[in-house]
Amino acid sequence: MPSAKSGPSEASLPPRAQPLPGPRGLENLSRVRQLFEDPATALDGLCETYGPICGLRLGPARIAVIGDPELLHAMFAMPADSFRWSHKFNMVGVRFVVGRRSMIVSDGADHHRRRGSVQSAFTRRRLNTWIPMIVDRADRAIGELIREIETSAAKTGETEIDLSPVIQRLILGVTLHAFFGEDLAARADEIGVMYGRMQKFIEAAAVKQLPHPIPFSARSRVRSDRHAVDEIIDAEIAKRRAHPTGDPFDILEAIVIDGALSDPEIRDQVKTLIGAGYDTTSAALAWMLWCATLASGVWSRIRAEADVVLGEPDGCSDVADHATLARLEFTQRVVHESLRLHPAGLVGARAAGTDVRLGDYTIRKGTLIVWSPHLAGRDPGAWADPLRFDPDRFVDLTPQQKVISDQAWVPFGRGPHMCIGFALAQMELTLILARIAQRLDLTPTSSEVPRPIGMVVNRPIGGAPFTVAASGR
Ligand code: HEM
Repeated sequence: MPSAKSGPSEASLPPRAQPLPGPRGLENLSRVRQLFEDPATALDGLCETYGPICGLRLGPARIAVIGDPELLHAMFAMPADSFRWSHKFNMVGVRFVVGRRSMIVSDGADHHRRRGSVQSAFTRRRLNTWIPMIVDRADRAIGELIREIETSAAKTGETEIDLSPVIQRLILGVTLHAFFGEDLAARADEIGVMYGRMQKFIEAAAVKQLPHPIPFSARSRVRSDRHAVDEIIDAEIAKRRAHPTGDPFDILEAIVIDGALSDPEIRDQVKTLIGAGYDTTSAALAWMLWCATLASGVWSRIRAEADVVLGEPDGCSDVADHATLARLEFTQRVVHESLRLHPAGLVGARAAGTDVRLGDYTIRKGTLIVWSPHLAGRDPGAWADPLRFDPDRFVDLTPQQKVISDQAWVPFGRGPHMCIGFALAQMELTLILARIAQRLDLTPTSSEVPRPIGMVVNRPIGGAPFTVAASGR
C-alpha cells in the first residue's frame, strides 16, 4: 500500500534552481561506467547516495537520472517539445535498427502523425479480437513444452528447462499473428533470430554501435538482418495494397488504409512495434514466473482464479473474450506488481529540448534525461515495504494512495511517447500467465529472484530455469 507523501508545488518552489546533486571526478567516471555495465546496481547506488534525482557527466554530455515519482509525474505532463527523442544516444543504435522514420526516434509533427496513424489502428475493439488467438497460441506452446519435457524425462530424467526461449517464441508468434496473420507467425523462428541479433546490437556498448564500413562485423550483419526484415514487411504492405482483405481486424491493413503514412514510414513503425513489443513482454513474463512461483500462495491463487474464469485447462480459447480478461483480477494484480518491481526497461531516455524546471532543479537544454521506472517502482516514499512482492497492495486504496501509486507505477512511461502497446502487453501477460498456471507445475531452481541484466531490456540473469511438470489435473 503506498504511503502518504507531500511534494513540491509550484508555489513553494525556491526562486533559484539548485544544481543537481551527484558525483564528481573519478567517482563520476565509475558511476557512469557502472550505469552501462550493471544498471540496476548503479541506479540503486546513485539513489541511495544522492537521492532520486542526480546528475552525471559523460565527457561533455550531461546526464540527469530521475526516479522520483512526483518529479516524473511533472516531467510526463510537460509539453512534448520540452524534450527530444531524436537525441544522439538513440541515433547511434536504435535508429540504425528501427529506421529513421520510426516514431520512437521522431519528434514534433512527424511523431504526432506517425504515432497517430498507428494509434488509430490499435483500437480496444481490435485488441479484444486477439484474445482467443493469444489463449490458443499459449495452449499450443504449453502443449509442445509438456511433450518436450515428457520426452526428456523418459530419456534422461531431466525436467529442468529454461523457459525464456519458449516464452520469447510464443510472444513473437502472438505479435506477428496480431499484425500480419498466421502465415507470418509461422516464420517466428526465422524472424526471431534476426531480431535477436538486432536487439543484441542495441544492447552492446555504444562504441560498438558507431557507424563504420567494416564488412563481416556485427553492424554489417545487423544491416543485412534489417534489410531482410524490411523485405518481409514491404511484401506484406504490397499485398494489402494490391488485394485488401477487408478484414476489419487486420492492423497492418488499417494503417495502410489510413493513408497518413508513406510505405517506408509504415515499414519503420511495424519494425518498431515488433522490436519494442516482443522482447520487453517476454522479459516481463520471465520476471512474473519468478515472482509468482516464489511468493507464497500466489501460483495457487492464479490457478484457482483461472480455473473459475477460463474453465477446464484445455479447450477454452474459443470462449475467452474481454469479459474473461476483466475477471482475471488477481492475475492482473500479479502482472501489475511484477511490472512495478521489474519494469522491462530499467530506464527510458529523452533529451531536454529546452531548459526544463523540475521541482527545485533546472535541467539544462541538451541534457540526456535518464528516467527510471525501476527507481519509481521501489521508492520508499511511495510504496510500503517496497521490495516485497505483494499483488494485494493495490486493493482498497484510499483516493490519496491511489494517486501516489499511479504516479510511482510507470513501467510503460507516460506522456506523448508512452508505450503504445501497454494494453496489448498487459492482456498477453495476464492471459498467458493464467494459462501457464492452470496447466503447469513450476518449481523455481533458486529460492531467490535473480539479479537483472540488460540496459534496454531488463531480464533475469540466467533466464527462467524451472523444473516443469504438467499439472496433471
Ligand atoms: C511489458 C511490456 C512493455 C513495456 C514494459 C514497455 C515499455 C515501454 C516504455 C517505457 C516506452 C517508452 C516511453 C517513453 O519514452 O516515454 C515504450 C515505448 C514504446 N513501446 Fe512499449 N513496452 C512494452 C510492450 C510493448 C508492446 C507489446 C508494443 C507493441 C506491440 C510496444 C510498443 C512501443 C512503441 C511503439 C513505443 C514508442 C512510442 C513512441 O515513441 O511514441 N511496447 N514502451
